[in-house]
Parts: sequence; C-alpha cells; structure tokens
Amino acid sequence: MSKRIAVLVSGGGTNLQALIDAQGRGEIPGGEIVAVIASTPEAYALERAKGAGIPGYVIARSDYPSAQAVTQALVEQLRDLDVHLVVLAGFMTILTRELFQAYENAVINIHPSLIPSFCGKGCYGLHVHEKALEYGVKVSGATVHFVTEECDAGPIILQKAVEVQPEDTPETLQRRIMEQCEWKLLPQAVALFCQDRLAVEGRIVTILPPKTQAM
Ligand code: GRF
Repeated sequence: MSKRIAVLVSGGGTNLQALIDAQGRGEIPGGEIVAVIASTPEAYALERAKGAGIPGYVIARSDYPSAQAVTQALVEQLRDLDVHLVVLAGFMTILTRELFQAYENAVINIHPSLIPSFCGKGCYGLHVHEKALEYGVKVSGATVHFVTEECDAGPIILQKAVEVQPEDTPETLQRRIMEQCEWKLLPQAVALFCQDRLAVEGRIVTILPPKTQAM
C-alpha cells in the first residue's frame, strides 16, 4: 500500500518542490504527496502545490488559543487525510507532543546544519549559517531527522556536508547547502521511509537494504 505523505510548509517551499520533482521522476516509490499544509495562506509553497495538483490547506497558529490546540487541529486534519508520513519542510509553527505521539517515528524534518551543531531553539533560517560562519567551521551541511519533543534532537536519518568557502556569506552558504544537500537528502529520506527501509532503535537509524522483488 502506498504511503500517504503530508508536507508542512511556511515559506517558499523549495524543499517541497524538490519532493514534487523527485515524485515526478518516479524517485519516491511507495509514496504519494497527498497534501500540503501551510501555517499561513501567504506561503508561496501553496502555489507550488497548486501547480502540481496537490490539495493545499492552511492551519494557522493565530486561529487557535495555544500551541497544543493548533497541534490537535493538525493531527485531526492528518487523520482525516489518512496520512502516514508527515514531512516538515520549513514549517515555522511550534508543535506539541500530541503530533509526535500520534505519528511516532513518522514525522521528519530537514535542518540546514550538521546536527548537533547550530541547531535547537532560535536556530533557524539565516541564523544557522551566521552562527556557522561566526564559529569558523570548515564544513557545514544538512540533516534529515525524525522529530521528537526535543527541538532538532530526534534520531538522524541522513546527513550531507559541503565545504565552507572563505568568501561565504550566510546567504551563499545557505544557497549551497540547499542546492547540494537539502534538495537531495529530503527526497532520499522520504523514499527510504516509504519503502520501509528505516529501522529506528533509540537514537540510531539503520538504513535497510532494498527489498528484492519476488519473481
Ligand atoms: C530550509 O532551509 C530548511 O532546511 C529549513 O527551512 C528552510 C525551508 O526552505 N527547515 P523552503 O521553504 O523549503 O525553501
């Protein structure tokens, strides 16, 4: 049975686009993006969803009294849509444990650094790359991980590094990490999940070999 995927977004949606393109090339066997859920009606990612014929929804924090209430509404929406995998692709709303309990080891996030560096509360967007440059690291990159209650601390699925160049600005480093790491890693991780190739034990994620087709 194909796994039904919801992608949660807040902004431009280049990672969503990478998923849509990978799906179009047949690189996500066993999965189908069935919904894009945005935290604001202004998210350009909704246009990308529309362009790809994927239904878009808005669940805005400002319409709910608390983080818990907005998470509950989200879980209800995900259940109504019969979703199996939740992908956070630049989703900027704080979510509470109700989501991770309902979708244990089935919520994944992409973060633009090599976790555990430059992550955690307040470390998002360009701040991540500013901090990496201030620290003077020679490599940075991206991490795809399962989401748990603790911010950016769940089991790591995939990581990829790029070299930091002496002339880098936060913007150039951000762009290189997106192009060379994020847009490749996220579709790969989603494909592995959809083929049941991720085994999680504690913090450790093991990538299982591809299943051979019965003749
Ligand atoms: C990406 O850098 C991602 O790593 C982070 O949020 C950004 C989203 O960008 N979690 P986009 O909306 O996919 O272009």
